[in-house]
Amino acid sequence: MQNNSQVTCPKLAIVGSGAIGGLIGFKCRQLGYDYQHLVKSQQSPIHLTDISGESHSLTPKISLISKPQPFDLLILPVKAYQVLAVLKQLHSYIHPQHLIVLLHNGMGTIEQVKEMLPNNPLIAATTSYGAFKPDTNTLIETGLGQTHLGWINDVDETVRHAIEPILSALLPPSHWHQDISLALWKKLAVNAVINPLTAIYNIKNGELTNAKYQETIHKICDEVSSVMGATGYSVSKAELVTNVRQVISATANNYSSMHQDIKHNRPSEIDFINGYVTAKATTLQIEVPYNQRMLEQIKLLE
Ligand code: PAF
Repeated sequence: MQNNSQVTCPKLAIVGSGAIGGLIGFKCRQLGYDYQHLVKSQQSPIHLTDISGESHSLTPKISLISKPQPFDLLILPVKAYQVLAVLKQLHSYIHPQHLIVLLHNGMGTIEQVKEMLPNNPLIAATTSYGAFKPDTNTLIETGLGQTHLGWINDVDETVRHAIEPILSALLPPSHWHQDISLALWKKLAVNAVINPLTAIYNIKNGELTNAKYQETIHKICDEVSSVMGATGYSVSKAELVTNVRQVISATANNYSSMHQDIKHNRPSEIDFINGYVTAKATTLQIEVPYNQRMLEQIKLLE
């Protein structure tokens, strides 16, 4: 961010045009923001159905990721395992004043990005926004889930005041946290339950209310709560279970992202979800057999 005009009216670059990236681009267009999608190849128009059921035909503004137009704010709504590869590809276009927004399930990428881009202002975000892309040209907004955001490093007040309303308008309803790690851990517990179970049993999120899954849900939450406690985030198993149940009911009709990844033979984010819990637990010498089992079963399906 070099001067005030860039702060008040930043140029946004959104990596990819997946479900969440596509929705962010749509919101940018509606709000009149200066944006581009960074993509690998040319794209045809998208047919979008918004939350009210209204249809829109969109021709997203795109640039090839190999040749991006100038930007101030780079949003990465990509899978956790793609973050480093994308940043490496864009490395020569990223300057220290550029803001980076990480937006994905799971944990573990913040440390990697801080190592690669130590001077860039960094925001970590996680969303339960409901979006579904059944094919490359169709995008459906399925729910307005909460988005949690937080700054990873200290930035100037003027930058914060300019950037936070922009991101809040793109991903409503949103909540900014002093310490985003707590929110990321809570969302990690949600994903550690819903994602592997729906993928392993080939079910929609809502089917996890069935009695036969309750013991596993409790055990996974209990293990995550222990690991969280040992890293300084004290949240009870009961609170994590309540939170998981709320998301199961709010997204009952959705197939989770991991269900979709396994179904379409794509790699999953398991290493950044139950894999992250398991790796932290090993360092802390805590037993997490249920998370370990989720990790192993998804690895077998991948
Ligand atoms: O990964 C997902 O699918 C989502 O984070 C969530 C909230 C579990 C809903 O399906």
